[in-house]
Amino acid sequence: MSDHEQTHQNKAATNEKGIHTDFKNNMTYGEYLNLDKILSGQNRLSDHHDEMLFIVIHQVSELWMKLILHETTAAIDSIQKGDLQTSFKQLARVSKIQSQIIQGWDVLSTLTPAEYMEFRDSLGQASGFQSYQYRLIEFALGYKTSHILKIYEKDEELHQMLVKAYEAPSLYDVSIQALAKAGLPINPQLLNRDYTKAYEPDDSVKDSWLEVYRNVDKYWDLYQLGEKLVDIEDWLQQWRFRHMKTVERIIGFKVGTGGSSGVNYLKRVLDQRFFPELWDLRTEI
Ligand code: HEM
Repeated sequence: MSDHEQTHQNKAATNEKGIHTDFKNNMTYGEYLNLDKILSGQNRLSDHHDEMLFIVIHQVSELWMKLILHETTAAIDSIQKGDLQTSFKQLARVSKIQSQIIQGWDVLSTLTPAEYMEFRDSLGQASGFQSYQYRLIEFALGYKTSHILKIYEKDEELHQMLVKAYEAPSLYDVSIQALAKAGLPINPQLLNRDYTKAYEPDDSVKDSWLEVYRNVDKYWDLYQLGEKLVDIEDWLQQWRFRHMKTVERIIGFKVGTGGSSGVNYLKRVLDQRFFPELWDLRTEI
């Protein structure tokens, strides 16, 4: 097509204000974003008005989790390649998403206990406890539990993806490897450990991080890495705390739809730690 014809066609596809209006042969915004699928996925099981809020807040959280995973797995890769600068950008984005996701609790808090009770029964045993993206994030950060593998056995493709993430080194494993590559005295057993096991605190890791934090100029990149990890754990715990408090506000101490004790279970998970030495060293520094 000549330049003249191209210009003519562009003109024909716009209205008098220059806005594109003819999309017979061009992709629209909605097509690019698959909005037909996304916006038709809010299937209320009750007639209750507030069930829409409940569905949307979960879906929005899951979309943000998708991006957290995208960035965290990329950061793991960057650290493994020794490209810490790139990982900082990816990890900083994770923290920003976390701060965004937390705002969702303010919206959900507008749901009162009476409103929630009107449609809670229709959820059956479904619960955020079964969120496989949430478990993938835990896996990527180094907290490994296997119950999610059992829950998703019925979906072979998803199950395989979960097993792969379960067996892979976490963000913390590759950070510890980065400490070793910088010449810090890491216990060699940690460098090729069984990654399906939850990480257990190790003195050699604490001593190495202490060395980094006491010699910031010498280990500036590792120091930045340590602080990025602390940001992520800090935000994650804040998310967990707001979840626990919002749940208490809405269902009190009722048992969860997933079968746990509810708020007491959510209080217990607040004790889980992802990067323990990075917190412990603060007492000693
Ligand atoms: C009315 C709102 C909500 C209530 C009453 C609620 C309640 C609960 C309860 C009681 C549990 C413990 C497991 C169980 O027995 O079910 C749980 C777990 C969980 N919920 Fe929620 N939740 C709500 C909203 C959300 C939202 C918006 C998300 C965002 C995705 C979410 C994600 C999760 C996750 C990931 C877990 C697993 C936590 C863990 O095992 O560490 N929940 N929820």
